[in-house]
Amino acid sequence: MAMELSPRKPVLLVMYVAVFCVLTASAKKVPVQTIGPIFIFGDSTMDVGTNNLIDNCKARADHPYYGIDYPGSQATGRFSNGLNTADTIVQLLGGYDFSPLPYLALVNDSSNFTREILNGVNFASGGAGLAKATGKAFYGQVISMEEQVQQFKAVRGNITAFLGESKGDNLLQNSMYILSIGSNDIMEYVFTHPMTPEQFVVNLTNTYAIHLKNLYCKGARKFGIISIPPIGCCPIARSPPGSACSDEPNNLARACHASFESLLKNMSSTLKGFKYSVANTYNMTMSIITKPTDCMFSGFKDVKSACCGNLTTLGISECKKGAHLCKYRDDYLFWDGVHPTQKASKLAANAIVFSQDPDFVSPINFSSLRNA
Ligand SMILES: *[C@@H]1O[C@H](CO)[C@@H](O)[C@H](O)[C@H]1NC(C)=O
Ligand SMILES: *[C@@H]1O[C@H](CO)[C@@H](O)[C@H](O)[C@H]1NC(C)=O
Ligand SMILES: *[C@@H]1O[C@H](CO)[C@@H](O)[C@H](O)[C@H]1NC(C)=O
Ligand SMILES: *[C@@H]1O[C@H](CO)[C@@H](O)[C@H](O)[C@H]1NC(C)=O
Ligand SMILES: *[C@@H]1O[C@H](CO)[C@@H](O)[C@H](O)[C@H]1NC(C)=O
Ligand SMILES: *[C@@H]1O[C@H](CO)[C@@H](O)[C@H](O)[C@H]1NC(C)=O
Ligand SMILES: *[C@@H]1O[C@H](CO)[C@@H](O)[C@H](O)[C@H]1NC(C)=O
Ligand SMILES: *[C@@H]1O[C@H](CO)[C@@H](O)[C@H](O)[C@H]1NC(C)=O
Repeated sequence: MAMELSPRKPVLLVMYVAVFCVLTASAKKVPVQTIGPIFIFGDSTMDVGTNNLIDNCKARADHPYYGIDYPGSQATGRFSNGLNTADTIVQLLGGYDFSPLPYLALVNDSSNFTREILNGVNFASGGAGLAKATGKAFYGQVISMEEQVQQFKAVRGNITAFLGESKGDNLLQNSMYILSIGSNDIMEYVFTHPMTPEQFVVNLTNTYAIHLKNLYCKGARKFGIISIPPIGCCPIARSPPGSACSDEPNNLARACHASFESLLKNMSSTLKGFKYSVANTYNMTMSIITKPTDCMFSGFKDVKSACCGNLTTLGISECKKGAHLCKYRDDYLFWDGVHPTQKASKLAANAIVFSQDPDFVSPINFSSLRNA
């Protein structure tokens, strides 16, 4: 076993990162209510404050030094020094300065609820997975993918109640659904091995299929899937710290990417109107790790250690006040033991939204999917 995980020292099993020399294009400011709002599902890579609103949840980024580079140096619940990948992707897609707000924040805000959900909703919860139980043993309460889809169903009902069935459906079919989840399922598998790796990949793919079908049946058509990064390379997974990446989670991440891609291909050929784009964050992140200085746009000086958190014999300690904090955040690929820096999230988003390289995003980029 390569990693140390204990309930005392929660580790957010998820990161990703990435990327490359990519094209930039200027984002058009079209009101999202016209082209369709963006709905975001996933884990800590996408969480913009959901977990702050869950009482019994230990996966939290609601304290310094999280958010140190966010406007106002606010710790918003993003597992980042600044913006996370939910923010950077929607910014580049256009019409947004930040991710849509968390469902749990909106649902309590009755005066603005309907207006806000027409701008999109973020359901993502740090520590969550595709399987319903994932994350719960380590973090207490997290919002599983199944529950996130349930919450979306309620939002869909609210939108169609407001706009009418036909107009509401039309809007939701034009909306984009971004999913970034699965790393926590792999990490729990690595600690428990309840089945063979082959069975696990099939099981996880079938679980993904159930969620995608449920979303499709509720009118979702445009799926932007962010697959699993090389989680064996995040600082916490290098044991001892600074040594080579762990093979087992990395091998599973690659196998899942191939299997998810096959699933999406099949779904798009059998389900009318099903469109997708799948981002290969494994490839993106590995390109940087293996060639950190190769690309004029990346220029990371450190791709192995965490900017925030102390190096201990057990790994990397939690990122919190008093912990080690690097001075130049943009020099680092990793913010804490698991998650990318804002700089890395910006690079990842650039490739996901705009790249034409099928090694990074296929069969189309997120920008093309948005306009499809
Ligand atoms: C929602 O509002 C209630 C009552 O105003 C409050 O007690 C609760 O903490 C709020 N929940 C969230 C998730 O903000
Ligand atoms: C609703 O939105 C308005 C304007 O953006 C804001 O001033 C107000 O605080 C919001 N209401 C709640 C309950 O958050
Ligand atoms: C949204 O839908 C839920 C579930 O159907 C309902 O309980 C809630 O009252 C609705 N909210 C608004 C503002 O219409
Ligand atoms: C995955 O495996 C778990 C544990 O055996 C099982 O409960 C679950 O139903 C399986 N999921 C699918 C979609 O096959
Ligand atoms: C996709 O379809 C092909 C051909 O029918 C099949 O061999 C493959 O297993 C399917 N992939 C998934 C993930 O279901
Ligand atoms: C990206 O993925 C493809 C297919 O999985 C692989 O052949 C290629 O070598 C990868 N490229 C990089 C840069 O990792
Ligand atoms: C962590 O590192 C910081 C800065 O290097 C140091 O001040 C602090 O004492 C360390 N904390 C622990 C628990 O080792
Ligand atoms: C996205 O992909 C399409 C098709 O490959 C390409 O034409 C376009 O330049 C890429 N970037 C943007 C911003 O659409």
